[in-house]
This record gives sequence, C-alpha cells and structure tokens, in this order.
Amino acid sequence: MAGGFAVGTAGGEFEAKITPIVIISCIMAATGGLMFGYDVGISGGVTQMPPFLKKFFPVVYRKTEQEAEITSYYCKYDNQGLQLFTSSLYLAGLTATFAASFTTRKYGRRPSMLIAGVFFIIGVILNAAAQDLAMLILGRISLGCEVGFANQAVPLFLSEIAPTRIRGGLNILFQLNITIGILFANLINYGTNKITGGWGWRLSLGLAGIPAGLLTLGALLVVETPNSLVERGHLEEGKAVLRRIRGTDNVEPEFLELVEASRVAKEVKHPFRNLLKRRNRPQLVIAVALQIFQQFTGINAIMFYAPVLFNTLGFGSDAALYSSVITGAVNVVSTVVSIYSVDKLGRRMLLLEAGVQMFLAQVVIAIVLGIKVKDHNSDLGKGFAILVVIMVCTFVSAFAWSWGPLGWLIPSETFPLETRSAGQSVTVCTNLLFTFVIAQAFLSMLCHFKFGIFLFFAGWVLFMSIFVLFLLPETKNIPIEEMTERVWGQHWLWKRYMDDYHIDGTDGAKKNGHSNGYDPASRL
Ligand code: BGC
Repeated sequence: MAGGFAVGTAGGEFEAKITPIVIISCIMAATGGLMFGYDVGISGGVTQMPPFLKKFFPVVYRKTEQEAEITSYYCKYDNQGLQLFTSSLYLAGLTATFAASFTTRKYGRRPSMLIAGVFFIIGVILNAAAQDLAMLILGRISLGCEVGFANQAVPLFLSEIAPTRIRGGLNILFQLNITIGILFANLINYGTNKITGGWGWRLSLGLAGIPAGLLTLGALLVVETPNSLVERGHLEEGKAVLRRIRGTDNVEPEFLELVEASRVAKEVKHPFRNLLKRRNRPQLVIAVALQIFQQFTGINAIMFYAPVLFNTLGFGSDAALYSSVITGAVNVVSTVVSIYSVDKLGRRMLLLEAGVQMFLAQVVIAIVLGIKVKDHNSDLGKGFAILVVIMVCTFVSAFAWSWGPLGWLIPSETFPLETRSAGQSVTVCTNLLFTFVIAQAFLSMLCHFKFGIFLFFAGWVLFMSIFVLFLLPETKNIPIEEMTERVWGQHWLWKRYMDDYHIDGTDGAKKNGHSNGYDPASRL
C-alpha cells in the first residue's frame, strides 16, 4: 500500500548505484499503485452502466429506467448487493493482509508478490466472464486477496531494495500511481460505455489484467530482497544479492546493519503486543486516526461512486462518466503538487489548508443539492451542474495534496524500528476496514441523509482539522530515527507517554543498543 517504505535499514547512506533491479523496483511500485487505483476507479462507472445493471441488479435497473419506480432520486442506487460489489474487495483485502504478513515473513517478498499476481489474474477472469452475481462477487474477492498480498509485499520489497535516498520519493510515487490508476479506469469506462452490444463492462473489468500481468512478470524477474534472505538465515546469498542490487562490492557496512537489524527484529518477540505499550501509544493513535480520518473525508464516496452520484443528480450516463474523468485528472495533478510542497510547506500546513478547502466545498455542494434536488425532480440545470463539478474538483484537489499521500506518509515515518512493520500492518488494515465501511454504506447513506451526507462529511473534516491542529506534530525534515526524541518527546501531550520509556527503558530495542531515539535526559 502507499506508504510502507519506512521498513528497512535504519538511517545512514550507503554506497549504491541506480541498477537495473532498482529500476524494475520502481516499475513494480508503479504497477502496484496502478492496480490498486484501477480497482478503486473501475467499479463506480461499471455500476451505472445499464447493461451491467440489467444483468446483475435488475431491481436497480428498473429503478433507474422507470421514473415511476423511483421513490426518491437519492435512492436510485441504494442496494446492498450493488454496494457489496464494490466493498467485498476491501473486506477480502483486509482478511488477506494477515495471511500475507505471514507469507511475506516466512517465505519472502517475491512469493507473496507472485501469489498476488495469481489472485489478480483469477479475479480478472471471473469478473470479465461473469455470468451471475456469485461469479462477480467471487472475482471481486479474489481481487481483494491480491490487494492484501500486493499491499503488504510490494511496499516492503521496495523499501528494502531502494537506496535510502529515493525511498521517500517512492512513497509518494506509489500514491501518484494510485491516482493514475483511478484516472485510467475513469477513461476506460468512458470509452467502453460507448460500445454497443452491452459488453463494455466486461472490457472495463478485464483490462485490469494488464497491470496484473506486469506485476506477475515483474515478480518473476526480480530477486528476493537481501533483508528477507538474511531474516531467513541465508546470509551468503543475502550478501551476494546486495552486491548485485547496489552495483558495488563495497556492501559490508550495509550488510552488517542488515544482519543487526534482523537480529534486533527477531528479539522483539511480540511485535503487536509491543505496539500496544504505553510508549508506542502516540504513534499508534496517530496512524489509526489518520487512516480513519482519510476515509471519513468522504473521498471514496467520490472515487467509487462519482459516476453514480453524477447520474443521481440528473447527468446522463455519458456526462456522468466524463465528469468523473475530470475529477480523476484533478486528483492526479494535485498529487504532484503534494510531491513538491510536502517537504517545504510541511505536513500540518497542507492538512490544515486542505481542511478549510474541503469543508467549504462540501458545504456548497450540500446547499446546491438541498435547494435543487427534490425527491422526484433532480433538474440541476447547466449552471448548477457545472458548479457541483467544480466543487467536487475543489474537494478532490485538496484531498490529493493532503490526506491522500499524508495519510500514508506520516504513519510510515513515525514508528520506531521496533514497531515499524507491525505498525504498517495496522495502518493498512485500518485503511481497508474503513474503505470497506464507506463502500458498503455510502449509497444507503445518500438515500437516507440526502444532501445532508455532504454536511456529515464536512463535520468530520472540521473535527479532523481540529485534531491536526492540536494533536499532530510536524514531521517535516526530521530523520526517521530521531522522531521519538525530536517530535514525540517535544509535544505538549504526547511527551507524557514517553516517560514510561524511562521506567521501562531496559526493554525492547533499547536493550539491544538500538535506542528508539528517545532519550529522556534530552528533555531536561
Ligand atoms: C486512499 C484511497 C483513495 C485514494 C484516492 C488513497 O490515499 O487510501 O482510499 O481512493 O487515495 O486517490
């Protein structure tokens, strides 16, 4: 998943060239992100294609086709089965993450990526050839397993293969590729919707096979990471791979650090229990809260359901799909803005600015819908339709330079070594869980809350901005291994949780000479 790149060697810059294997890693980062983004973006468009609805969701189809059947415009697509088509992927992903965490540790990163590729190919075939709802949902579940395995193994693989100096860049590159995947999906839906004969949706779902094939091929071509080889006791092989990927024979310092890091990691017997210790509470709270908040901005209501939403507002199928292409493009461009500004303006600044922008956009959308869309009449008129699309873009752009990348980046850079990979698993699971919740609930919430759904999300945005203001410390330009001392140890609230490090200082990483970075004396 976007943001797992912090796991790997601790600090330090070793001799390293950009070798072919590193370039392949970047391509893998790209395909991993593209695949995830494609999954996110494809379902909404397909969900509002009449031939698809007619085949799998005839009840919804009748509602969308026959005015008389509509109880309220807001409820046109309110159907648990339809939402399950989107959400089942995330539920399966959540479950698979646990299995993936086991195979990644026990058998290595490469086999886990291969498993992901195989799940993806099965999922794509089941979806593109689907004859009934069961095949469709099974396909989505298989895709979800792929997401679970890929999101666990690809980021880990990248963080271990990439030289330190490009690791942070790869982090946001992954997010950028998610947004490009979403945009591709929007464009493809726009194209396949025009295919006569009613099989366009099959092409939409089937084209996901391209990045899946690339990932599988990539997993066959790459080497296992030296970290994983060392962790599993293959020391000599680990060193040989390190020489190959760094393009130099001078790898001894990095190799020794790898061996040491692996020894320390093995000493931490219960990484998850460790995560619950008082001194790790601040990072845990921040990582979990950031992921929940990221989903409660309401972004995936737009990413999953923009075509359905625009259609609900009275846009024709074509207009709904190209409006989604516009929001998809805004998402990509604004993510680039984040790459340039995150280390200059800082994380807090971006999150707070975006909070104001998202809040205002959502309130305007709610007002326009409240005035113009009635239960049996949804004639927005051209001017208001354009205003709604502009406000959705305003919202999406703010998300894309703040909560989108930072929801991943901040957790990945704040955990100390002793809890880093466990922390990353918790981050990924929280994300998938709340993505599932939004996917499963949004269309029903739209039906019940009507325009008020946007006020609901606006309320959350306000709440999370206040949280950022008081509880999120700035992490800009702070080396990862110094976070505990320079960030948590200085914060008005979180520093209290660091005290038990003092009492409990003989424990965990510190015992092994690996300070988690916090020295209580530094506060005196
Ligand atoms: C989120 C996804 C979302 C995407 C939109 C990611 O950071 O985790 O849920 O769909 O951004 O660009």
